[in-house]
Amino acid sequence: MNLQAPNQLPSPNHRSASVIGTGSYAPQRVLSNAELEKMVETNDEWIVSRTGIRERRIADASESTSDLAAAAARAAMENAGIEAAEIDLIIVATVTPDMFFPSTACFVQTKIGATRAACFDVSAACSGFLFAMDIARQFIATGTHNTVLVIGADKLSTIVDWTDRNTCVLFGDGAGAAILRHKEGSNGILATHMGSDGAYAEILYIPGGGCLNPITAENAAQGINTIKMNGRETYKQAVTSMLSAANIALQAANLTSDDLACIIPHQANLRIIEAIADRMKVPMDRFLVNLDRYGNTSAAAVAIALDEANRTGRMKSGDRILLVVFGGGLTWASSVIEW
Ligand code: ACO
Repeated sequence: MNLQAPNQLPSPNHRSASVIGTGSYAPQRVLSNAELEKMVETNDEWIVSRTGIRERRIADASESTSDLAAAAARAAMENAGIEAAEIDLIIVATVTPDMFFPSTACFVQTKIGATRAACFDVSAACSGFLFAMDIARQFIATGTHNTVLVIGADKLSTIVDWTDRNTCVLFGDGAGAAILRHKEGSNGILATHMGSDGAYAEILYIPGGGCLNPITAENAAQGINTIKMNGRETYKQAVTSMLSAANIALQAANLTSDDLACIIPHQANLRIIEAIADRMKVPMDRFLVNLDRYGNTSAAAVAIALDEANRTGRMKSGDRILLVVFGGGLTWASSVIEW
């Protein structure tokens, strides 16, 4: 895997960007492992022991990705104490956009009334929220934008093959959001890192539905527009790339894992998180884990976890935290933040 991507460091001459509020939204409908036992040949013991997932949320047909995203955005605006009119940029990370175009960010803009904002989407699968946060940081650093709404939102239930036990037990729907802004007296985001390796595209992807393999009646019946995954290879690359990304951002921030109050990793699989904790020599109680309740919600996962950490008081002002993610592409990213 190409882990030598150049590091991106915030310049000390630029304005820092801080997270001033977070929010999240999960659909009401809970899909338990027991219910999955009735859909495919699986069982609760297999799912829990291999993944740590006990249940996930599934949006109903009337709820689109932009609905999930708008609900998370409203919660983040309330948490930050800002009005929609103050937002001048909306970035939505998703692989399940409402439509190919317009962007899901444009739909969110209308739903929350952020009439001044410019809007676009980012496609980096499960790494999307941290890619979007880093884009937001740079817009704030250069001074072109002041208040940026970053959202990770996915309705994976629409792209899961519900007859494939290898994948359907893993995923769920949800959205998480953060408001970023320069805050006097706060260092905010201290260091970030992003990387990709397209040579591994086919270990985790959706082969059909784009212009390369448009949907036809025949290939739709074969599920060409649903998630295909080589689980073992994905597992291996997830551990390697997240560890590397964590170390690069920590080094860039001149910190070690001992300086971290909390680590918020991508919520794909408890065993992946335990392997990273083991190799970083950090006790598991410093990792935020909520995948048991949500499964893997792709771009939303780390955003929902960040909101949970914020609302449950996992970090106090001045604490350093690490966010680290991995996703299809392959993509990976990390961010060290002074809270
Ligand atoms: N229930 C019961 N048995 C199952 C299930 C299931 N849901 N799924 C697979 N099995 C079977 C397999 O068919 C296989 O049976 P076989 O030996 O008869 O062929 C057996 O269990 C072992 O399968 P493996 O794939 O080897 O199981 P493994 O221990 O590797 O666990 C898992 C599978 C959980 C998918 C693991 O590989 C993993 O977590 N990989 C990473 C997945 C991931 O994180 N994906 C997303 C990351 S990026 C993103 O978020 C988009």
